[in-house]
Amino acid sequence: MSPLFNDIFLRACRNESVPHTPVWFMRQAGRYQAEYRAIREKYSFFEISHHPEICAQVTKMPVDNLGVDAAILFADIMTPLKARGLDVSIVENVGPVIKHPIRTGSDLAQLHQLEPNRDLPFVLETIETLHQQLTVPLIGFAGAPFTLASYLIEGGPSKNYHLTKAFMYTHSEDWQALMNDLAEMTITYLSAQIRAGAQAVQIFDSWVGSLSCEDYSRYIAPTMQHIFQALRETDAVTLYFSAGAGHLLPEWVKLPVDVLSVDWRTAPEGLTNAKVPQAIQGNIDPALLLAPWPLLQERVERLLDQMNGRSGYIFNLGHGVFPEVKQETLLRLTEFVHHYTSK
Ligand code: CP3
Repeated sequence: MSPLFNDIFLRACRNESVPHTPVWFMRQAGRYQAEYRAIREKYSFFEISHHPEICAQVTKMPVDNLGVDAAILFADIMTPLKARGLDVSIVENVGPVIKHPIRTGSDLAQLHQLEPNRDLPFVLETIETLHQQLTVPLIGFAGAPFTLASYLIEGGPSKNYHLTKAFMYTHSEDWQALMNDLAEMTITYLSAQIRAGAQAVQIFDSWVGSLSCEDYSRYIAPTMQHIFQALRETDAVTLYFSAGAGHLLPEWVKLPVDVLSVDWRTAPEGLTNAKVPQAIQGNIDPALLLAPWPLLQERVERLLDQMNGRSGYIFNLGHGVFPEVKQETLLRLTEFVHHYTSK
């Protein structure tokens, strides 16, 4: 490995010792950046992701501008489903909207199986380009089956996920078929990203915190166990994220995953190495980035002090950066965490 390559993020993911706490931000490539907004005036979301050169540039911007310790591929969790023939569009200020939400297991059978080389050559080319250019690790990613299913069934963003849960409780065979299908897609997609050069992969299960621990254990855990076990065959480190899912930690710690990413609702006291053997990522409330700096600094110091006693810690937010956040705040925060934790 080149001495210029900063692998601190990967070492923290593996619970190894590091010279300072690594930092990256969920949604670090996005609308808070003037440079990103300018590109979005010319190209739609999917146009950016279909052009490897522009997509690599957008992925790299936060590394150059903020000095973060990892890059995350610029794509969406719906990208592989669109590539399988799903009619999905990204609606401004809404999110992914599906033209024909699925209602039965056979609706999904209309989508062809994912073949990354054929269906997503632009994603793999973006990763290959970034692998040449980046001096920090690249995080590839995918949506988790439950979170993808929520968009497929609800037809777009949802508050309560009640249609998704009704499907899960009522059509248990179709639900299992849906989970199996999305799990195989996720394994195929992430394995292709890893072969193309991603050194880490994060699975976003953003909305699974809407389930009770009992339902997670029954309807979701076997699928996540299967996905992470399959990814164990690769060299990449694995991360698992959800929002508002601290109550699922007793299930999460059983998964063969390297890093668990938690949000601000989970108190750091419950995240010691004894309680959670995996590395931890998180968990500042992204709204604190809109608070006065002294308050943000106080909260960040406290979090870093609490995490100081455990090995395997990656600084991040509990969810994505809001568009209203100033780029200077993210830059100052990155520098602060690096400096405060330097040994
Ligand atoms: O935020 C999360 O919970 C992470 C998982 C997730 C992504 N996309 C990953 C992502 C989820 C839940 C989505 C769905 C989605 N897609 C939403 C949320 C809608 C909802 O239900 O609340 C939205 C708004 C989109 C569309 C989208 N995705 C846009 C407009 C962008 C560009 C950047 C921005 O935020 O303006 C994305 C990029 C995106 N989605 C990334 C990731 C990991 C890019 C990389 C990065 O994080 O920097």
